[in-house]
Amino acid sequence: MKSFRIAVLTSGMSRGSNFEALVNSFREKNLPVEISFVLITRRNAPIKGRCERLNIPIFYHSTKNWDEFETHLIEKCRESELDLIALAGFMKQMTPNIITNIGSPITNIHPALLPEFGGKGMYGSNVHKAVFQAGRKVSGATVHLVNSNFDEGEVIGQEDVDISQCKSPSEIGATVLKIEHTLYGKAVWDYLNR
Ligand code: GAR
Repeated sequence: MKSFRIAVLTSGMSRGSNFEALVNSFREKNLPVEISFVLITRRNAPIKGRCERLNIPIFYHSTKNWDEFETHLIEKCRESELDLIALAGFMKQMTPNIITNIGSPITNIHPALLPEFGGKGMYGSNVHKAVFQAGRKVSGATVHLVNSNFDEGEVIGQEDVDISQCKSPSEIGATVLKIEHTLYGKAVWDYLNR
C-alpha cells in the first residue's frame, strides 16, 4: 500500500483536538499516513502538549512578519515532500503565493455546513453563534479543498448533526466537534486515495 506524508497547520492558541483525532484515526486503523510536522504560530499554543504526547514534530513560526512566514512555510512543506497539508484550526487566509508554491493540496475543516456560515470572520465560536442566532436545528462540519477565498474550495466531506437540543452556541460547538473528529480523518484518507 502506498504511504502518505501530511502536515497539519494550526495557528494562534490552537487546542488541537482535530489534530489528535486525525493522528488517532490513522493509527487506530493502521493506515500508512505519517504526520511530518505540526505548524504552530504561538510558542505556548495548547496543542504543543498533544504533539509531545503523540510524538509528532513541531514546526514553530510566528506570523508577525507574514512574508517571512510564507517563505519559510513554503520551504518547510516542499522539503518535507508532502502529499497533503491539513489545516486544523488554522484561522489565517491562505494567499495565492502559498497555494501556488506550497507543492501539495490543502484541506480545511470548517465547523458548519458550507456554503452557509462560511467566509471572512466565520471561524471557531463565531460560526456557532451565527448558527444559534439563525435558530438552526441542524448544523454540521465540512471538509474542503482550500483556495484563496475563505471556505470556498471543493467540498470533499460533509456531515450534518441534530442541534435542536442545544441551548447555547457552545453546546452547538461541542456537538459539531464530535462530528469533526470522525469526519476529518475519513475525508483526508479518501482524498489521498482518490
Ligand atoms: C474546529 O472546530 C475547526 O473546525 C475550527 O476551529 C476549531 C479548531 O479546534 N476551524 C475553523 O473555524 C476554520 N474556519 P481544534 O484546535 O480543537 O481542532
